[in-house]
Formats: sequence, C-alpha cells, structure tokens
Amino acid sequence: MKIVVRRDDAALAVLKSLKKGPVSGEEIATKLGVSRTAVWKAVEKLKKAGYVIDARKRVGYVLVSSPEFSAYEVADVCFANGILEVHHYSSIDSTNEKAKEKQGIVVIADRQTAGRGRRGRRWYSEEGGLYFSISLPPHLNMEDLPKLTLTTGVAVCEALSFANAKLKWPNDVLVGGKKVCGVLCEVVGEAESPAVVVGIGINVTNPIPDELKDIATNLLEFGVGRKEIFEKVVGNFFRLYRKLPSDWEEIRQRWKELSDTLGRIVEIRVAERLYRGIAVDIDESGALILDSNGKVERIFSGECFYLQR
Ligand code: BTN
Repeated sequence: MKIVVRRDDAALAVLKSLKKGPVSGEEIATKLGVSRTAVWKAVEKLKKAGYVIDARKRVGYVLVSSPEFSAYEVADVCFANGILEVHHYSSIDSTNEKAKEKQGIVVIADRQTAGRGRRGRRWYSEEGGLYFSISLPPHLNMEDLPKLTLTTGVAVCEALSFANAKLKWPNDVLVGGKKVCGVLCEVVGEAESPAVVVGIGINVTNPIPDELKDIATNLLEFGVGRKEIFEKVVGNFFRLYRKLPSDWEEIRQRWKELSDTLGRIVEIRVAERLYRGIAVDIDESGALILDSNGKVERIFSGECFYLQR
C-alpha cells in the first residue's frame, strides 16, 4: 500500500464529512463542489488506506471503522506546518531514502526493510513502530546542523513526557534508561545551506529483538498510539524548528534540562578517536563539552557510552 495525501485531496474532505455521520454521495458532492464520481474515487482511496466504508441504500456512505494509523489522520498537523505531501507506505526500504527525493514532504512507513541507523547501522523496523522522515527545504547553514539534531531530540523527548523520556547525547531518547527512539539527520546535496532529511524511529508497540533488550525498549506499557505520538512529535518539531537558528539558546537550555548525559563519565567515539571524561555542557554552537582530566574537548558528533550507570 502507498497513499499520498496532498492539501487539496478530495478524500480528506470526504473523510471529514463521513466522520460527522452517514451522508449520501450526492450530498458530499454538492457540499464539496465535485462530481459524484470524484466522491466515489475518494471513498475508494480511503478504503485502500484502511477505512471501512459501507454504501447503504437510502442512507448513503457510512464510516464503519478507521485504521489505527493513516496519513489522512495525521495530515492536518503536517499541512499546518507547511508540509506539501504526506506519503504513507505499508512497507518501504527506508523512509529517509524516499524523503530525499522531494523537499517539503513527510514519508511514513508501517515497516522498513532496510531501516538505517546512525553510523551505517541497521534500524529494526518491525510493524508497530513509528518510522518517518521529514524533508526540509534549505533553511539552516551547515554549521547550524548540530543544533537541528539536538532540537529533534528535544521535540521527541517532550512528546514522550508521559514516559518521562530523557536525552542521551547526541539525540537518542531514553525511557527507563533504554533507547526508545533514534534520529538520523541527513544532508541532501552540498550547498552552503542544504536541504535536510530528518528521520525519526520510535519503538511504540513493535517487539524489541532479544539481542537488544538490555539497551532498547518500546512504549507498549503506556498504551499511547502512533497517531498521538506522531502529532505531538511533528507539532513540537516545527514549533522548535521555526525558532532555529535565532532562538537556539532556549532550545539548548531545554536540551540540558532533559539531558540524561550531562554530569556522567562518558566515552565518546569519533571515527578513530576516543575521548573520555565528564560530559559537562552543550555549548552555544551545539558541541558537547567534555572535561577530560581538566582538558576541555568540544565534540560535535560521535557515539556516546556511559562508563557508570
Ligand atoms: C539511530 O541510529 O539512532 C538513528 C535511527 C533512525 C531510524 C529512523 S526510522 C525512520 C528513518 N528511516 C531510516 O531508514 N532511518 C530513520
């Protein structure tokens, strides 16, 4: 299944009508100023997206049930934030790869066959998780990109406040000390002010593979659905993104408040180099400040390991 929802999609308006109660094709057609065939096509699109819609004699179309998640349900929050299209796949290789093809879209998948993590790792993407990518037109300079990464972490962490989520540098989101979300920001092209794809993977009800159970978790026990989480993350993300780069200071302070990393003794791997020390701060440029036996190290990206629990 692949569904693409655009702002002017008649199916969106038809769905809004159906949610109010049974309605005839003729009535919807008149209300929306489209043909009855257009209404029928919109209903077929909605059925493809998982809505159960009956056509009953003398009653009209009846919305019997809605899917647990659909692009139509989350389109409003996307369009309200300037997104042009919402793409929803039942299965795809990687939403980040798809999102690189066009600026201003959001790509969501129920599962990924080649989900990618940071540092070339695989991202387990079984059904039940929330996997999506936001493709952003150029807005930030290259040197502001570490800020975008940290900002995305704050957006997710705040959305998962019901689970008392915390941030592990640079942008893992932890629940109960285990990773529940990963963020993969990728630059598209080589311009001074590049387009960026922000990929977010959140373990919602998807099972965690046995080999990862010590370090990863999901949100199953909280009983919160993908739709609600998606809306909160996307709403938070754009609220904060609009503040970049001018109000970065506010976001930086918020990152520090939500941090699980600051104050810990950590080891940071950056390519071949290894840094050890106390994580003391995030500076104005978005770098992690490490106190390494009195020597101050500024680190922009890398892999962080806690040396103490
Ligand atoms: C990490 O290693 O922590 C980052 C994981 C990012 C996973 C998300 S899922 C949606 C998007 N598509 C991908 O292939 N990866 C990101």
